[in-house]
Amino acid sequence: MLRTVTCGELDKSFVGKEETLTGWVDTRRDHGNLIFVDLRDRWGLTQIVLNPQANPEMHKKAESLRSEFVIRVKGKVAARPAGTVNSKIPTGEIELQAEELEILNACLPMPFELEEKNVGEELRLQYRFLDLRRKEMIRNLTLRHRVTKLVHEYLDKQGFIEVETPYLTKSTPEGARDFLVPSRLNPGSFYALPQSPQLFKQLLMVANYDRYYQLARCFRDEDLRKDRQPEHTQIDLEMSFIDEEDIMGIVEGMVGHVFKHAKQLDIKLPLRRMSYKEAMEKYGSDKPDLRYGMAISDLTSVFEKSGFKIFDETIANGGQIRGLAFTPPAGVEFSRKDFDDLTQWIKTYGPKGLAWFKVLGPDQVESPIQKFFDTARIGKMIATVGAKPGDIVFMVADKFKIAAVALGALRCFLADKYKMIPEGKFELLWIVDFPLFDWNEEEKRCDACHHPFTSPKPEDVPLLETDPLKVRARAYDLVCNGTEMGGGSIRIHDRAVQSKIFNLLNLTAEQAELQFGFLLKALSFGAPPHGGLAIGLDRFVTLLLGLESIREVIAFPKTQKGTCLMTDAPSTVDERQLKELSVAIKLNPKT
Ligand code: AMO
Ligand code: AMP
Repeated sequence: MLRTVTCGELDKSFVGKEETLTGWVDTRRDHGNLIFVDLRDRWGLTQIVLNPQANPEMHKKAESLRSEFVIRVKGKVAARPAGTVNSKIPTGEIELQAEELEILNACLPMPFELEEKNVGEELRLQYRFLDLRRKEMIRNLTLRHRVTKLVHEYLDKQGFIEVETPYLTKSTPEGARDFLVPSRLNPGSFYALPQSPQLFKQLLMVANYDRYYQLARCFRDEDLRKDRQPEHTQIDLEMSFIDEEDIMGIVEGMVGHVFKHAKQLDIKLPLRRMSYKEAMEKYGSDKPDLRYGMAISDLTSVFEKSGFKIFDETIANGGQIRGLAFTPPAGVEFSRKDFDDLTQWIKTYGPKGLAWFKVLGPDQVESPIQKFFDTARIGKMIATVGAKPGDIVFMVADKFKIAAVALGALRCFLADKYKMIPEGKFELLWIVDFPLFDWNEEEKRCDACHHPFTSPKPEDVPLLETDPLKVRARAYDLVCNGTEMGGGSIRIHDRAVQSKIFNLLNLTAEQAELQFGFLLKALSFGAPPHGGLAIGLDRFVTLLLGLESIREVIAFPKTQKGTCLMTDAPSTVDERQLKELSVAIKLNPKT
């Protein structure tokens, strides 16, 4: 090694010893007679003192040092003089009195200072190799490492083995578009990058590798957001001869183990469960954030035949009146304009309007539509949503799903805007009893809610023939602070049921055979009952750190447009490369 210790290692016990350090010049302070350099590496920061009397030539060299130069210094560890101790850093009691200095490399002027807080993300991503030197990024990537170590340790103890599955494969539908890779050896044919190892892990169960796991990279060509990247990592696992409880038990244990050892937090197990139905009714979301209240109530019966046209018509058409009570923080007054702005905002979620009532007393309100309702109705509304004087009741009249989702979004918006989310709190829960299918209005067909290999509840199987949208899935999602952290299901291990599901998803028998023939075949060769789950590692680490964007926990992430600003990927390729792949480019006129 070019060094004897790291920049985070020296303390008083080293005083008097000769040591050699390497690292980057964090700061250089020239006091004329003495030059102080804070030397930094991933482990910490050590103060170096360069004294012209000790070595005039070395001092001259030190004068040429600039930020981020890479150096090697040999010297003697000394206790810092009284009054200059820095109690904020572990090495704050000592300094290294330099005897030899070697400049290992220079550095151009930095495009941004590492300490600066508001550097634009574009610049950060363009110079990610510099951005990663920042202590926040070191903390993030180190925690990510700690989490994966804890996961390996826990799953190994539980008898899981890690098996790698291919990246060059056939399409594995998880609801997104595939990334395709042309095959040179098979002109005109393409591999798909896996959206997850879903089918391979099921085949591993058929192959008797009960208790499989993998930290698997997954590729999905979908619209990107702050919690979505084109490639992400899953803690992916699968087990045989189990039911939902077994999977949830193992996963809770793993998550608890990580919280305990990476975050020093005891999570109360078992985690609470909530049905999909309850989550949608109360929180308008299948990933409710339970760090704050504002649950949604059904006010339909309160407003039955009230004479207010919009409400009456909504109810007559099978819709509902739903509402929630919001307590504005002290000092916050809502003006007409605030309500108008909220109304415009909520319309983007589908509703045609937003009704609001400022609560003045047990049956007294102020609202543009209060004249339509008698005090008995107002009192009942206030009691049903649980509002108190000073609160605002917001209501939406629409079809159940539109009203629920819009109010769910309003709930999150208000909590965020008015800083009602307690810091450092983790609210984990399981969402269970999902429907097996969603209705795809555009294509007038069923879509798999989770994925097409999810087992229906046995008691709902007859409904596959009569009312498939009523069939419930043996699926479960792990939710933390309003984020879907993971999801999984018990799989179909019966070939006939799997064929039936493909059929309901509008695949003909021939299409099913072409796309999933290998799965259907495997299900006929002694497939055990099995199931599993995958946790999004990037999201898990982001949550543990209380951050907003998963880009903060990925060393080299992509932008919202799927580009890498550092390498400039994706980029055009050589004509020759395309020819080898038998690929010709014909740009869509719209792009
Ligand atoms: P699912 O599609 O729910 O399930 O994905 C599992 C978890 O992976 C994370 N995730 C993502 N993270 C970042 N960027 C993305 N684009 C992205 N997409 C998903 C989420 C999500 O909960 N094969 C099934 C699992 C199973 O059934 O066992 C699957 O992939 O945290
Ligand atoms: P309008 O007649 O459209 O001006 O609406 C009268 C009041 O009813 C306004 O306060 C609207 O915001 C409210 N309103 C209109 N449509 C809805 C709806 N779908 N749900 C709840 N309130 C609504």
